[in-house]
Amino acid sequence: MVHLATTLIHADDKNNRVSDVAPPINVATTYRYDNDNLIPWAEQDEMTVLEGDPVYSREAHPNCTRLESIFSQFLEGEAVVYNSGCSAFHAALVHINPKRIFMGQSYFGCHAIADMVGRNYGLKKHTLEEIEQYAEKGDLVHLETPVNPFGTSIDIQAIADRAHAKGALLMIDSTFAPPPLQKPWDFGADIIMHSATKFFGGHSDLLSGVLVVKDVKSARELRHDRIHLGTIVGNLESFLLMRSMRTFEMRVLQQSRNATEIMKFLSDYKGSYDKVIRELHHSSLQSEPFVAKQLAGGQTPVFSVCLMSQEQCKQFVSKLKYFQHATSLGGVESLVEWRAMSDDTIDQTLIRFSIGCENASDLIEDVKQALDALQNA
Ligand SMILES: Cc1ncc(COP(=O)(O)O)c(C=O)c1O
Repeated sequence: MVHLATTLIHADDKNNRVSDVAPPINVATTYRYDNDNLIPWAEQDEMTVLEGDPVYSREAHPNCTRLESIFSQFLEGEAVVYNSGCSAFHAALVHINPKRIFMGQSYFGCHAIADMVGRNYGLKKHTLEEIEQYAEKGDLVHLETPVNPFGTSIDIQAIADRAHAKGALLMIDSTFAPPPLQKPWDFGADIIMHSATKFFGGHSDLLSGVLVVKDVKSARELRHDRIHLGTIVGNLESFLLMRSMRTFEMRVLQQSRNATEIMKFLSDYKGSYDKVIRELHHSSLQSEPFVAKQLAGGQTPVFSVCLMSQEQCKQFVSKLKYFQHATSLGGVESLVEWRAMSDDTIDQTLIRFSIGCENASDLIEDVKQALDALQNA
């Protein structure tokens, strides 16, 4: 078995078209035909064209093909890469075409897409609690775990059993804990999605998304749809994402270890900050046995802390030295977000942390000085 670190650096060797050690950035939208070997479209099938030399970049382009080799091997399926996580989610809906979708707390953009498809084409949206009551064969259960913004886990196998008992498919949004942290195939997932903008991109400088399916036929159908929806990952982004993937394993493991250490500090000292900290949320604080099985490779680097007041939230984010106050997650730089800035449906005193690759004790010192200041105010 080839190990993950090697896969991330070599899975695309077979797609290398040049002698350059660093893959070139291809900005071309169109590629010359080989005039010595001209076979009309009518005499080929679409997939032979797509899997051969590049023709037009909305169909396929060299760095997207290389990325799909990396993701397919690493994510243990057939990977299709998109220009955002939202595009990946939409592509899954177009492909599966369910009559009903079952979703709990999950990224608001995915809810918005399901609502749009409902508005235009009649897709009915239900909660996870309603699976037994309404789900039928061909429907889709969409589960985000660990879940935004808390970083807590939901039992994939339990939801898979409930979905499959009704003939529905289960899609896991594994953005908050990509492998090696969590492997949704082991717990009954039928399709997996990631916003590659987060931990895969890892440097807060690109948008992308990935869908992973189990069979070549579905991947080909997804690629066919992607051509006409125009949602292939961009040329420059595909280069940036590939460069990021080379170091993905070390980054995410460091982020996971850092988050676990910082959360340990917060839960150990919560009592000392009784005027500031109201609630802590993270998978490392959950005691249900499924959590350790599911996050076998490490905890999600995202967690949340609820403070006593909105005023404290404003002050807390401005006292931090190493945590930038911004939305999003997964980058090498630690971020905090007072979620009230972007989400009015969530506890308005919740601060979401996305832990980066800095030294954990520096980050703990920084959080400590901000909490001390608020506790002693
Ligand atoms: C869990 C989750 N899924 C999907 C998305 C959408 O991804 P993108 O922003 O790449 O479209 C996000 C974005 O924040 C997310 O957090």
